Amino acid sequence: MQKTKEETQMIIAIDGPAASGKGTMARKLAQHLGVPHLDTGLTFRAVAHALLEAGLPLDDENVAEEVARKLDLGTLDRDVLSAHAIGEAASKVAVMPRVRTALLEAQRGFANQPGGAVLDGRDIGTVVCPDAPVKLFVTASPEVRARRRTDEIVSRGGTADYEQVLADVKKRDERDSTRAVAPLLPAEDAHLLDTSKLDIESAFQQAVGIVEAVKAR
Ligand code: DC
Repeated sequence: MQKTKEETQMIIAIDGPAASGKGTMARKLAQHLGVPHLDTGLTFRAVAHALLEAGLPLDDENVAEEVARKLDLGTLDRDVLSAHAIGEAASKVAVMPRVRTALLEAQRGFANQPGGAVLDGRDIGTVVCPDAPVKLFVTASPEVRARRRTDEIVSRGGTADYEQVLADVKKRDERDSTRAVAPLLPAEDAHLLDTSKLDIESAFQQAVGIVEAVKAR
């Protein structure tokens, strides 16, 4: 029997707030399925990083759009881009519609490669890949996310104050959820996965179950 487009091009869209576990989930699913993965947060971080490095302002949409258009997805370096300050700057860059449009083209190009892909971010199921056959919205309480983020920073040898991280998590949620363009929202047909009380392996098994159910349809 001939394969349908959905079978040959399995796009998995994963959204959720910062430190919800969506990145780990996306990496594990991509590995499990043998398809490439794009953390779209890194694309916003890369634009912010380039602006900071060049001493350019974070609020000039023309300049930020130009940087976004030149972005090469092959050069995203998680180690450099994961710094907390770059995340804060990325959240400001991400409110600019023309930056989002420029990055959207690159993100869609990645999603539509033959064989499919896993993408994670804030608006994958709603804007980037609204037709993705599998959409997951991974979430957890702000307190659980702040605890995970704090532990992660400390385990890497850094110092972090839980109360400060919690305040940052809440501030970032507010900015990401209330912006006019592509706010953080579950797609209507997204499966909700609350990882507040789940370890990553249990959450991953639930996600695999959802993917398998869609594939079997
Ligand atoms: O997930 P992250 O912390 O790497 O994301 C950095 C910022 O980029 C975050 O504030 C929200 C924004 N972002 C976005 O607006 N849309 C996406 N698809 C991914 C990230």
